[in-house]
Amino acid sequence: MSHAEPTPAAESAPGEQSSAAEEIIPDPGHVFEAHGQSEADFSAKPILTVDNLKMYFPVKSAGIIRRTIGHVQAVDGVSFEVRKGDSLGLVGESGCGKSTTGRLITRLYKPTAGSIAFEGTDISGYGSRQLLPLRRDIQMIFQDPATSLNPRHTVGSIIGAPLRIHQVVPSDKVLPRVQELLEVVGLNPEHYNRYPHEFSGGQRQRIGIARALTLQPKLLVADEPVSALDVSIQAQVINLLQDLQNEFGIAFLFIAHDLAVVRHFCPEVAVMYLGKIVEIADRDTIYGAPHHPYTQALLSAVPDVRQASIGGRRERIRLEGDVPSPINPPSGCRFRTRCPIARDICARVEPPLMQVGKRHKVACHFAGELGQHPATPVTTGVLGVDDEGHDVAGAQRRSDLLDHPGYQDTWLDLKTGQPVGS
Ligand SMILES: Nc1ncnc2c1ncn2[C@@H]1O[C@H](COP(=O)(O)OP(=O)(O)OP(=O)(O)O)[C@@H](O)[C@H]1O
Ligand code: SF4
Ligand SMILES: [Mg+2]
Repeated sequence: MSHAEPTPAAESAPGEQSSAAEEIIPDPGHVFEAHGQSEADFSAKPILTVDNLKMYFPVKSAGIIRRTIGHVQAVDGVSFEVRKGDSLGLVGESGCGKSTTGRLITRLYKPTAGSIAFEGTDISGYGSRQLLPLRRDIQMIFQDPATSLNPRHTVGSIIGAPLRIHQVVPSDKVLPRVQELLEVVGLNPEHYNRYPHEFSGGQRQRIGIARALTLQPKLLVADEPVSALDVSIQAQVINLLQDLQNEFGIAFLFIAHDLAVVRHFCPEVAVMYLGKIVEIADRDTIYGAPHHPYTQALLSAVPDVRQASIGGRRERIRLEGDVPSPINPPSGCRFRTRCPIARDICARVEPPLMQVGKRHKVACHFAGELGQHPATPVTTGVLGVDDEGHDVAGAQRRSDLLDHPGYQDTWLDLKTGQPVGS
């Protein structure tokens, strides 16, 4: 199985959006409304710290002797933190590695490299016996409610299974607990003996949520918990999750395709592209002043409540081409084959995830607000290279600003090009 090198970068200069990449279109119809936007508590301790996490799936040749002929770099050096009781949104196009990241954190997969610290302890190398107690604390709501529930088991047995496995309550208390959970997620407690196919899609997702809540987890990985649902019930399920978070103080890694969905739930958002985080910031920065061309493009597709309500029109950046293969990703910046402002350095040097504000990190040589991308790379001084990507004698890499989980007290001021502190 081989994959051709993707097409070269677009030639337009920084500061310009290529005309083909930009057009005015009316807002999409769907407006997402949910209640209770939570606020970030950046002083809270991290419950989860992910550092340089990688997952490479082997690609095997056909035939009797199946040799490894390559790797799918599904997750390639991802670092972030989730604070206690807080929510981090993880957003990106299909295939960028969101579910794989979620499955690594819940340790359904063993990472190829990197660490996953849960409450300060690295669980990345744990075996199944060590993981058993952790299964109580870290739970997952799966992407597809239709396939993640066993059709041959009743809802009562699906939700009750973790209680039995972990012997959390005596066996005669399992049913009352299951009924209590059904009520918490807004389902009829008397329906415990029904099968998953007897419920609607939205109800099945609620069953998945009830199952994930059974053991009162401290961290919930919610993998696209609403994308399989009708728009009309997406907000209901989001509001349910928000209420559960407020009541039980659960921390969330909330995975979604859509920046509109996480906006209401997550005070902090990370944007992924082809296995890497390209931008991560607090909500105001991601939605108000994104600095990465990919975030800007994703955001341009988000329906805006205020604009829609006044019949407004918005600018939309249309991304050209397909997402390249994660088996043979582009050199340098992985987004360069679709980036409207890519330059030569983008093919030669990988832009690091660099802190550029108190709560803002971005991986782009030409990071800047839309239409204000600088003419020269902002990363070279920090990396210790010149504009061609060659090492500069005596220059030091500012590792305190680069590729670490969470936020440091020092960051690069993009206007002055100098590190500043809080
Ligand atoms: N078990 C696996 N074996 C081999 N490749 C895999 C495996 N799981 C995922 N991949 C590949 O890894 C990449 C990331 O997949 P992943 O499911 O994490 O993406 P995603 O961002 O969740 O996408 P979607 O939005 O469609 O759910 C894809 O290219 C996918 O084909
Ligand atoms: S580093 Fe990547 S995102 Fe930034 S300008 Fe270059 S190609 Fe575009
Ligand atoms: Mg997925």
